Amino acid sequence: MTIKTATLNGVATIEIARPEKKNALTVAMYQAMSDALVAAKADPAVRAVLITGQPGIFTSGNDIEDFMSRPPGQGSDSMESPVFRFMRALLDCDKPVVAAVTGGAIGIGTTMLLHCDFVYVSDEARLAMPFVALGLVPEFASSLVVPQLMGHRRAAEKLLLGDPFTPEQAVECGIANAVLPAGEVVNHARRVAERFNSLPPGAVREAKQLMRGPQHELTVNVIRNEGEIFGRRLRSPEAMEAFQAFFQKRKPDFSKF
Ligand code: COA
Repeated sequence: MTIKTATLNGVATIEIARPEKKNALTVAMYQAMSDALVAAKADPAVRAVLITGQPGIFTSGNDIEDFMSRPPGQGSDSMESPVFRFMRALLDCDKPVVAAVTGGAIGIGTTMLLHCDFVYVSDEARLAMPFVALGLVPEFASSLVVPQLMGHRRAAEKLLLGDPFTPEQAVECGIANAVLPAGEVVNHARRVAERFNSLPPGAVREAKQLMRGPQHELTVNVIRNEGEIFGRRLRSPEAMEAFQAFFQKRKPDFSKF
């Protein structure tokens, strides 16, 4: 079991649980997470969703072996792949989504946070979007949202250089609400999610829709454009070199490109 789901006291929890691979997300895990989000949206007993990971790791991002062996389709096919279904399900979730970032959040581990309503980060977490270093490009509308949040210059450090950032920096630039001690982050996030049990669900839903507002359509279009380029780059010699270097535990050599 690599994605655990449970609904308790009005909160649907999606727990990423593949610690032996640092919670790397496979095609099957994206599918399970999107199914859970769709089910949470449809279930009137669910008032909020909680996404969490394991102690010390939220997720190390997309499974790099899957990137090599099962890259999402290209062109119009790519939008039907499980990773894009997950993105769509998170964007379309009209109930509050709370993330408890229990540790490292890499790649989509950070970009999914851009689409959660509340983000609480463990004081041991590190966030990073090392897409370019992997021969890839930003995804999940991070090329739009990250520069909006922190300005082009600081976004360039995160998206072009792939510099990791601390939980405090995540709060400072508006990606996260607060930093919590590692042992408290999940309980704190759960308590925030449970507050929606005493709020009117219709008003919450419509308020969330209004907050997404006109940016929603733009976000979907950016995800589609990024996805097309990402799909092409996954098959590029630069990305192959980066993936092979990861598994061979060596530095990639881009000098030949
Ligand atoms: N995809 C596939 N396997 C992954 C993975 C990923 N994204 N992240 C970690 N793993 C695997 C490692 O290959 C290793 O497997 P092994 O035990 O069979 O050798 C295992 O998980 C443990 O990872 P390891 O790198 O030894 O742990 P660490 O504590 O030294 O480092 C990370 C942890 C998360 C910093 C490091 O694993 C990492 O950088 N992962 C890749 C992150 C990434 O680039 N993600 C893609 C973003 S688009």
